[in-house]
Amino acid sequence: MIDRLIRLKNGSPFFGALIRTIRFPVDCLLLVYGATYHKLFGLTPKISHLALVRVFIFTDGKMNDLISFFLSIVYPPLHLHSLSDGLLGGVAESEYHEIQSKLEKDGYYVLENRLSAQYCEKLEAKLSDLSYQIRGDKLKPEELARLYKYDRSNIIAPHYVLERNAVTSLSEVQELISDPVLIRIAQSYLRSQAIFTGLTLDWTPPLGGIKDDAAAQLYHWDMERIKWIRFFIYLTDVDHESGPHCFVKGTHLSGSIPRNLINRGYARISDEEVLNVFGATRILEFVGKKGTIVIEDSRGLHKGLGAISKERLLMAFELSNSTFGNNKRHTITKIHSPRFRDLIAAYPRLYSNFDFNEV
Ligand SMILES: [Fe+2]
Repeated sequence: MIDRLIRLKNGSPFFGALIRTIRFPVDCLLLVYGATYHKLFGLTPKISHLALVRVFIFTDGKMNDLISFFLSIVYPPLHLHSLSDGLLGGVAESEYHEIQSKLEKDGYYVLENRLSAQYCEKLEAKLSDLSYQIRGDKLKPEELARLYKYDRSNIIAPHYVLERNAVTSLSEVQELISDPVLIRIAQSYLRSQAIFTGLTLDWTPPLGGIKDDAAAQLYHWDMERIKWIRFFIYLTDVDHESGPHCFVKGTHLSGSIPRNLINRGYARISDEEVLNVFGATRILEFVGKKGTIVIEDSRGLHKGLGAISKERLLMAFELSNSTFGNNKRHTITKIHSPRFRDLIAAYPRLYSNFDFNEV
């Protein structure tokens, strides 16, 4: 019976629309249930996260905008102006305005060479002894379950992802996520208090530019939170040969992804289709020296290009207006940065997706 309904939904636009319409009020109830559960226990039931994805699709993003509006009233932005400069130094008021208007209009902004080469190299040097999970379409479950070193002489996967608690244990990462510039940019965009979520650090080895779905090397949109802004930090020089991050300008806006594409949900979209629908001028490939930060609303269509002949080291994280959604949390066992410790005490909501368990 369910199989027949799924076949009908996928095979007929009319039945597809009918089923989505009938399901919408049920999904709204699941969101209310999920929000209550999240408020009580700090976690989101999986069915409520899936309902968020379907409601995003059904309303073309407008429900996310509405919930974000209410969150901005309940949790207005914090005043951080008294904080001293962090890693990124100072930013002129005019640049803050420029960043805000470009993020709202186009969905992205690039801070070129904003972190020092010394910072990037110091962080990279710490990674050689650490263990990684591997990701790739052709890997077996037992390979996905193991941890590996990033061994350049024996590359076995298109993506090496540092275990998430190891990411937040690095002093350089703690320094960066205490930077008032990033927090202020995020708060302005979200129009509310922000919470650090989804911190990742990964290697993309050079494999001739293969496109791997599991390594997010095909176009897709994300829906792990209600609203967020993601920071992609290049820790190695990135050009066309080393797998630059790509984004389709303007696709972060509600209603900007055509119905036939958004209805596919989390399914990946081919380069050809993206080119046909949006045109070459809207497809952006971000290249930059190490220390470059790409700020992006990854609700819009994006992907990482497969690395052709050079490797790429990338750190990424989001600042979100709620932790509702994906339940991935970070545990911090050691605080290395005094600035980080001060901010945790002063602005606990910023780090409410972290569990502090100092040893
Ligand atoms: Fe993504």
